[in-house]
Amino acid sequence: MFEKEYKLAIEKIRRNSEKIGATFPHVGIGANGEFNNEPIHFWTNGFWGGLLWLAYRETHDSKLLEIAYDIEEKLDEPLNDFIHMHHDVGFIWIPTALQHYLNTGSEKSRVRALKAASILAGRFNPKGNYIRAWNEDILKNSAGIVIIDCMMNIPLLYWASKETGDPRFKHIAMSHADTVLNKVIRPDNTVPHLVRFNENTGEKIECLGGQGKDANSVWSRGQAWAIYGMAISYRETGKKEYFDAAKAIAKKYMSSLPDNKIPYWDFCSDEKDKFAKDSSSASCTASGLLEIASLCDDEKEKQLYTDYAIELIDALIKECACFDDSIQGILKNGTVSYPNNKHVNVPIIYGDFYFIEALDKLKGLKGFF
Ligand code: GLY
Repeated sequence: MFEKEYKLAIEKIRRNSEKIGATFPHVGIGANGEFNNEPIHFWTNGFWGGLLWLAYRETHDSKLLEIAYDIEEKLDEPLNDFIHMHHDVGFIWIPTALQHYLNTGSEKSRVRALKAASILAGRFNPKGNYIRAWNEDILKNSAGIVIIDCMMNIPLLYWASKETGDPRFKHIAMSHADTVLNKVIRPDNTVPHLVRFNENTGEKIECLGGQGKDANSVWSRGQAWAIYGMAISYRETGKKEYFDAAKAIAKKYMSSLPDNKIPYWDFCSDEKDKFAKDSSSASCTASGLLEIASLCDDEKEKQLYTDYAIELIDALIKECACFDDSIQGILKNGTVSYPNNKHVNVPIIYGDFYFIEALDKLKGLKGFF
């Protein structure tokens, strides 16, 4: 399914690799649709390397791997710097060093992934049972901030426990996931972007809008992180409550979509702001839905989540995809942060990553997260 579009996308990644090289693309905002190049600590810096690994899996083109290896080496700077590292180490090192290790057994890459996992584990607050999102250099007074995106970083902890035989990483991941389950997910099966806890008592203080409209709204990419992240936590632990949460948030997401199935940046967006879409939310959700489908025992349920994912991928191909070289991104219409007027309706590298990952899953291949 979608074989033609898949091949076109992989060929585009190949052509892009000659132009983008070992840099850190995030958003396609150049005059001719070129991607930008982010500073070395940026949270999205693992996705281009990840796309190269995904394209390598299909093409076995060793030139793609050479670039992925260069990227991984450059990322030693933020890894060793340590001080400016944040919770997004999973987004950075799962698609790069961890892929390298899993595919080749490289000891250097294994150590990189273990170091990244240790940084993430070190951010755990045992009083509040959560992983802290950022340090003060990114957000002042942030010792109590929990971010839904972190559900996609804790897979690194599950891997580290399996790799080392030490359950501490998994204990931390599950404590964080339990906090999300009990204190972040709302009764209507939606999530806010951020929640503030008291870092000394562990008490929940308030929800915050973050990149969503407000504290009570439904930021569409946040729902995607929750769906996919909760499905992974179930896959790694067998704890059914995580699976129930993933499925409930997924159903709510699917029932909140507009007719063309491309989510607005926030499902609670005012009418005048609905021109801002987020294709990256749809592609990440599609990959998450296929993760759910792969974990369902019941055939009917498996088909339901597969069909949901196909609906989203089909909509992305019809409404957002670009396979020629008029721009570098594959998916148009991603939105980074509407409240900050930051990169609205533009190609986003993680949108492209999860789009290809979802297509790979439809072909029967495993995802990277
Ligand atoms: N992790 C921030 C975002 O999803 O934009």
